[in-house]
Amino acid sequence: KIVSIKGREILDSRGNPTVECVVRLSGGDVGRAAVPSGASTGQFEAHELRDGDSSRYGGKGVLAAVQNITKTIAPALYGMDGANIRAIDRALVELDGTENKRGLGANATLGVSLACARAACRALGLPLYRYLGGVRADTLPVPMMNILNGGAHASNNVDIQEFMIMPVGAASFSEGLRWCAQVYHSLGSLLRARGLSTGVGDEGGFAPDLSSDSEAIELIIEAVEGAGFEMHTDFMLALDAAASEWTAEYGYRLPKLGRSYDTDSLIAYWQDLLGRYPICSLEDPLGEEDFIGWASLTEKLGSKAMLVGDDLFVTNTERLRQGIELRAGNAILIKVNQIGTLSESLDAIEMAKKAGFRTIISHRSGETEDTTIADLAVAVNAGYIKTGAPCRSERVAKYNQLLRIEEQLGCSARYGG
Ligand code: PGA
Ligand code: ZN
Repeated sequence: KIVSIKGREILDSRGNPTVECVVRLSGGDVGRAAVPSGASTGQFEAHELRDGDSSRYGGKGVLAAVQNITKTIAPALYGMDGANIRAIDRALVELDGTENKRGLGANATLGVSLACARAACRALGLPLYRYLGGVRADTLPVPMMNILNGGAHASNNVDIQEFMIMPVGAASFSEGLRWCAQVYHSLGSLLRARGLSTGVGDEGGFAPDLSSDSEAIELIIEAVEGAGFEMHTDFMLALDAAASEWTAEYGYRLPKLGRSYDTDSLIAYWQDLLGRYPICSLEDPLGEEDFIGWASLTEKLGSKAMLVGDDLFVTNTERLRQGIELRAGNAILIKVNQIGTLSESLDAIEMAKKAGFRTIISHRSGETEDTTIADLAVAVNAGYIKTGAPCRSERVAKYNQLLRIEEQLGCSARYGG
């Protein structure tokens, strides 16, 4: 039984306030969780409640969300079974009473939802992944590791937000993680040798100024090979264009380069890039309102690559249903704060799997030391995880948790994707 729920304002990895929540159960078990925050947020995401009081944190304070936890949510949830996450989340949705959680704030509801799950797994004496996933939870995700940052996550001149490596040929998660770290260091040496910046972006990837997307990709391939690996067999590449950030009055405009595209020419650009490089996943290659363009892109490239809807689907089953019906995309990025409860995230994952869509559990560019997404990835056998570079502890914390889980699973651990 839930006996106390407390919210507090803490800082995320960009030094902005975010919500932390602590739930206590009658048996004395306590669960704590922190909420992440995006920069290139989709317009259809659940509402992140910020105070707007410019005298604190430039208006980004979350005291109102914290107050919603302590004054509104806590009294309504007292006495409920802390392990019945479905019932708790349903109560949160009803209490909020809006389409997009603007009533209480998705940062308030998610904090409570995750903290309840953490308290419940403690009370039951189970690791979080086991509590959420049951006996079927056995698959460690393939990291889609972002080692070169651009877009809204870096102040360099690169428009594509994320350049990722995927250790598809590794035998285990821990081996894949080691390979990635070695490639990350190899890329660092390469950049240093060329006199390019080795400063990092919000997700820990390097963020040098470069002449083109091709230069970024070729540097990464050189780093992979320089570390002694082979493209295709050991590693594949993945990109997140975050193209909703490029939406212009007509079509698309890359803000840094200043180049414009319409949907067809942008699709042609991706076709060309996928023809030239070993890229097996393309996230948000088109904007969040361009379902028609997505359908056309999926028809052309759907058999060659994962076409991942992030801003397009926003972990929302209504939008995912549209995507499935229109054959727009073939994979979904899952970000728990895009929808605001754990149960609704699980619903999106289930719907995606039933439709044959791949699932990728993801961090946000603003993160904390909370490692829930690592457990979630194993719980649902997602197959893939996006949690940044092996640099910046809020990213590494998730990888380290996956190492612990792999060790716990022992010989039953599988490596997914
Ligand atoms: P965000 O970026 O957390 O800033 O939205 C992550 C992503 O686009 O995948
Ligand atoms: Zn994205």
